[in-house]
Amino acid sequence: MTVHFIGAGPGAADLITLRGRDLIASCPVCLYAGSLVPEALLQHCPDDARIVNTAPLALDDIIAEIKAAHDAGQDVARLHSGDLSVWSALGEQTRRLRDLGIPYDVTPGVPAFAAASAALGAEFTLPGVAQSLVLTRTSGRASSMPEHETLENFAKTGATLAIHLSVHVLEDVIARLTPYYGGDCPVAVVWRATWPDQRIVRATLDTLEEATGGERGRTALIMVGRAIGAEEFDESCLYAGDYDRRYRPVGTNPRFPEGQE
Ligand SMILES: C[S@@+](CC[C@H](N)C(=O)[O-])C[C@H]1O[C@@H](n2cnc3c(N)ncnc32)[C@H](O)[C@@H]1O
Repeated sequence: MTVHFIGAGPGAADLITLRGRDLIASCPVCLYAGSLVPEALLQHCPDDARIVNTAPLALDDIIAEIKAAHDAGQDVARLHSGDLSVWSALGEQTRRLRDLGIPYDVTPGVPAFAAASAALGAEFTLPGVAQSLVLTRTSGRASSMPEHETLENFAKTGATLAIHLSVHVLEDVIARLTPYYGGDCPVAVVWRATWPDQRIVRATLDTLEEATGGERGRTALIMVGRAIGAEEFDESCLYAGDYDRRYRPVGTNPRFPEGQE
């Protein structure tokens, strides 16, 4: 018996991996985080599967469900939105499973920031503009932020910020970031990327509050940084015609002569 933690992707039901889909189809028990996981994914469950929405459950109840499946020798598909690597509660569940000696594995999913990039048609790392993407959030009721992981500290680097779980405090985010990025810095808010009701607002830090028209709705990413929608940036050397590289040797004395590993 194994608990399969599966990244369910950002919303669109076809943005799950083939492995994730096949695992759902093979498990007699499916636990899904109903607040963000699309119900359409449950169509992959076997007809007689036990399907439980864990949104209203406490951790103890979720572990009790898993333990009951374990005792019955039944595999569990455990679905969380996006990818499991960020804000998925994977850590606290797997720690309990290790204590109980229950085996598990993890299948990655498409995270919200990647869905936002696709929705915007934009790369978040552009040569000479930004080469780092910070996945972060602001303090919430359920989780406070470690002392040094402030928006201000990340902003000092000029990196592109993907700010999760924070659209309800948009005014505060704007006020904290403007001194570092400048009021003319491009920003975008992407609500429910890849869902049928996806919405995008592009603006600057100065104009964002008005541009949202007061919409706050919780499932959104705030993207901030000079790379958002930039047209002024260098081309990467990698594809430059005169750049000598292993897969495209150039010049009379290439660094990686053909056939040499
Ligand atoms: C609990 S976190 C889950 C993150 C998820 N594990 C991931 O890989 O992206 C939920 C937050 O992620 C962001 N988010 C999740 N799905 C989203 C989507 N489809 N569009 C925009 N933001 C999304 C929002 O900021 C939301 O408040």
